[in-house]
Amino acid sequence: MIDLILKNYQDKINMRLDMFLAQTDKNYKDVVEASRYSLLAGGKRIRPILLLEFYKLCGGNDECAYNFACAIEMIHTYSLIHDDLPCMDNDDMRRGKPSNHIKFGESMALLAGDSLLTESFGVAARTVGIDQGLVVKALGILSANAGINGMIGGQVIDTLYDAPITEELLNEICLLKTGALIKIACSCGAVLAGANDEDIKKAELYAEKIGLAFQIVDDILDNTANEQKLGKPVGSDNRNEKTTMVGLLGLEECRKRARELTDEAICILDSFSADSTTLKELTKYLLVRDY
Ligand code: IPE
Ligand code: IPE
Ligand code: MG
Ligand code: MG
Ligand code: MG
Repeated sequence: MIDLILKNYQDKINMRLDMFLAQTDKNYKDVVEASRYSLLAGGKRIRPILLLEFYKLCGGNDECAYNFACAIEMIHTYSLIHDDLPCMDNDDMRRGKPSNHIKFGESMALLAGDSLLTESFGVAARTVGIDQGLVVKALGILSANAGINGMIGGQVIDTLYDAPITEELLNEICLLKTGALIKIACSCGAVLAGANDEDIKKAELYAEKIGLAFQIVDDILDNTANEQKLGKPVGSDNRNEKTTMVGLLGLEECRKRARELTDEAICILDSFSADSTTLKELTKYLLVRDY
């Protein structure tokens, strides 16, 4: 059931993503091609789906929120292109294809990431059918959490601190580098739907739980997954001598923590007055995913 729901969302998101960056001046076609290569390479589209689901949970009609949802996916894709660069994780495969810099070279990969980031704000700003004050508020959340005090900050600590690091710091890295974009998805979904402060707070809390769980599962998969299925190199963290949750706590403890965080996240969903069945299914899927 969840597979069908995901597929339906993915098709709609992919169709829209395909429309952005479509208009090409021939002078810029290289960067457009490189941007589209990674953006349309697949990907689970978890962040836009979370935004759309929270938007619906808080009373919105999801068609209006697709632009904002796609904007988060553009930011996520830019973060992956840059994360794979030789100066970062130096990974040569992503979403089952050669990484952006392997295919287009480092300069164009850098610029493709820059393009996706910058254009994402225009896509989000072109949201129609939602109160413009709410769109501006959501844009602020987008910028704050994708920026220095959010995802970028997480990547900075991840890059600067060599092993070994404390569990406390590792938690912070995960909450920032991965949790921050997930937080954008959940809280912007709620904000755009005009949710009250209490529900926005709950959406944020839920995002913290599954953001941490998501990175723990990512670290587990880096040790245990099938590379073909994962679509990116297995063992990348060990090769880069990264301290990960698995390295620090071991596989079993990681699985236990991810389960606990998932249960806590589901309890938060139960506290919403509207029906959260799909979000609960999605939350459970994120724990058992194999890519
Ligand atoms: C991978 O994210 C990077 C992390 C933040 C752990 P996803 O697992 O959502 O990757 P895609 O979008 O499906 O490729
Ligand atoms: C990356 O974490 C998080 C961001 C890109 C912001 P990882 O480095 O673990 O992600 P993967 O495993 O390369 O997808
Ligand atoms: Mg990384
Ligand atoms: Mg990486
Ligand atoms: Mg990883």
